[in-house]
Amino acid sequence: PVEERVQALLAQMTLEEKVGQMTQIDFSVVSVANGQDAENPVDQAKLDDAIFNHHVGSILNTPTTPNNRAQPIEKWRNITQSIRDTAARSRLKIPVIYGIDAIHGATYTQNSVLFPQAISMAATFNPELSFKEGEIVAREVKASGLDWNFSPVMDIGRQPLWPRLWETYGEDVHLAQILGGAFIQGHQGEDMAAADKAPTCLKHYVGYSYPLNGKDRTPAWIGERALREWFLPGFEAGVLAGAPSVMINSAEVDGIPGHANYHYLTEILRGELGFKGFTVSDWEDIIRLHTRDKLAASPREAVKMAVMAGVDMSMVPFNFSFYDLLLDLAKSGEVPLSRIDEAVARILRVKFQTGLFERTEPALPVAGYFATAEAVEVNRQAAREAIVLAKNDNRMLPLSKTASILVTGPTANLLSVMNGGWTITWQGASEELYPKQYPTLLQAIQRKTSGRVTFVGGQRFSDEINIEQAVNEARKHDVVVLALGEKPYTETEGNIDTLALDPVQLQLARAIFEIGKPVVLVTFGGRPRIITEIADKARAVVLGFLPGMEGGAALADILFGDVNPSGKLPISYPRAVNDITPYDHKPIEAYETNQYRPLYPFGHGLSYTRFETSGLSVKPAQIKAGDSVEVSVKVKNTGTRTGKETVLVYLNDIAASVSRPVKQLKAFEKVELQPGEQKTLHFTLTAQAMSFIGLNMRRVVEPGDFKVMVGDESVPFSVLPN
Ligand code: IFM
Repeated sequence: PVEERVQALLAQMTLEEKVGQMTQIDFSVVSVANGQDAENPVDQAKLDDAIFNHHVGSILNTPTTPNNRAQPIEKWRNITQSIRDTAARSRLKIPVIYGIDAIHGATYTQNSVLFPQAISMAATFNPELSFKEGEIVAREVKASGLDWNFSPVMDIGRQPLWPRLWETYGEDVHLAQILGGAFIQGHQGEDMAAADKAPTCLKHYVGYSYPLNGKDRTPAWIGERALREWFLPGFEAGVLAGAPSVMINSAEVDGIPGHANYHYLTEILRGELGFKGFTVSDWEDIIRLHTRDKLAASPREAVKMAVMAGVDMSMVPFNFSFYDLLLDLAKSGEVPLSRIDEAVARILRVKFQTGLFERTEPALPVAGYFATAEAVEVNRQAAREAIVLAKNDNRMLPLSKTASILVTGPTANLLSVMNGGWTITWQGASEELYPKQYPTLLQAIQRKTSGRVTFVGGQRFSDEINIEQAVNEARKHDVVVLALGEKPYTETEGNIDTLALDPVQLQLARAIFEIGKPVVLVTFGGRPRIITEIADKARAVVLGFLPGMEGGAALADILFGDVNPSGKLPISYPRAVNDITPYDHKPIEAYETNQYRPLYPFGHGLSYTRFETSGLSVKPAQIKAGDSVEVSVKVKNTGTRTGKETVLVYLNDIAASVSRPVKQLKAFEKVELQPGEQKTLHFTLTAQAMSFIGLNMRRVVEPGDFKVMVGDESVPFSVLPN
């Protein structure tokens, strides 16, 4: 049994060995100076020092910082083999756990499938696809010799300026819980020790995604009720799904940096959420309690503060300062040995649970496990279901394959714009680093039309487009496909001051509209940039977000009608730069003037067929607090094409002691229907769904009236006092 093994090992460990387990270093600390071309860039002398003298428990990151370009899979296997072999020669043979940001595929190695990023996976509203993505990503992490994935992001995306919005499952708590939970279950399976399964890491606990000014790693102000209602439940679901590690918020909430927050890290995460795994700091963040946050008077105090708040492992990452300082603090008694033992036990437990002690070589071979035909197919399906058809006036789409088409705009002919950050390199790879077997949007359109389209654009995002030439070409064609959006980015590098679209793109769009040709607007990017003026004039609008490597092909499938779109918005698409009201807003925001007037609301997404929901029923009409209601509703395909529809079930607590959102998503199901086909869907709304954070900051179901809403229908029910 794991617990006996943990305790037996702990009993044999020296203090040095224990503190080492809590230390995570960057790969560069143990690599040769320029490892770019080496088959195995490990510097054995440095690795020996890290493992034998500093007993490091974990290593992270890619072989060639700062330009973390994708490496051949064999190189990864060589690196991790050296680490395994070296750890096996240490006194207690404790394995090192190697972690990586495989956030939408094994992006750090060559030729991995690259899935839609989380915001786009959320747009599929399809937990089965998220589950399968988890299975495939875990398999590829293992086939490349690695152990642990810093994914999924369970932050809730309610601040569209924030440059990591696209790493979230959007603005809704329930959707994030379901999609994130499914990813974790697929990734970890029933048994994390299985060769094709790997542990996940919930990021970034908690409140990181809601900086007031929208800039990455800046303060959030989140009252306890909002924290519990919107920001904790994603992590709660991740813990329930079995995630054994949690990475900490790099920034601060209500004046307390994530890494110093005992209340969040220990009282809530452990005491309330029941998390049993280990926490890991984010990049260099412990020392920043001193250098940046000015909470700690010295690096030593910073280490003490973080460890005592509940940080179990430090992503140091470039030296052994954490190791030295913590050792000293433990020897002097300032950090009690019991706290060190607690942290180390948590880390060892996961190493046992994931079978690391039994592993002498990579868990899987490459052949048959990496970029399999099944993985490619799942990825293709995910991309198809992730794309949102937001507008389609007079059935502008699908386009005819023989139409005369001009394609223009900065995102039309790039793979990078569909994949976003943390892809091949940290900020998203430059175009030449991408494997070329996948088509860009332009190439996919060319394939559909036997090459008959004209293109005016650049080969890189920043290339200026010749607007005059684009306009001249537009005059000669029947339709313009205008592809706008953002280039890849993440973290602070992606900070912007406004959601407004880049002025040059707006200029291109205005010039095209002047000549009056029908325009299909396509966008790619990590957050909603303001397109209102363009969307109003365009005949059709297709929102791609970050659909991954299959995005170009999938988008062309939709443009020409080979695939019927089924994506829905996981966030409210703002109308104007300051229009950041989420769909689950408060009554006060809709009282005298409706402040929820997005360009496209949460859950919006069109199809080439029509769906109607009817016959909403909620039973029984009265329940006792703590009981559930059964909801059923019919959904029918009333159009002429087979298609998929997601039925969204919302709940509203009509009067309560705390103001409640006008509606909140509580259940959803995606179904495929033939023309004329009807299905009845059944949902159970439990007491949890009816509960909210009450006056005493605890979850409560208050007696009173509720209503369930699906489509245009709404049905009341009452909760009676017990
Ligand atoms: O996992 C990431 C995190 O999301 C941001 N900072 C660095 C970590 C490791 O790369």
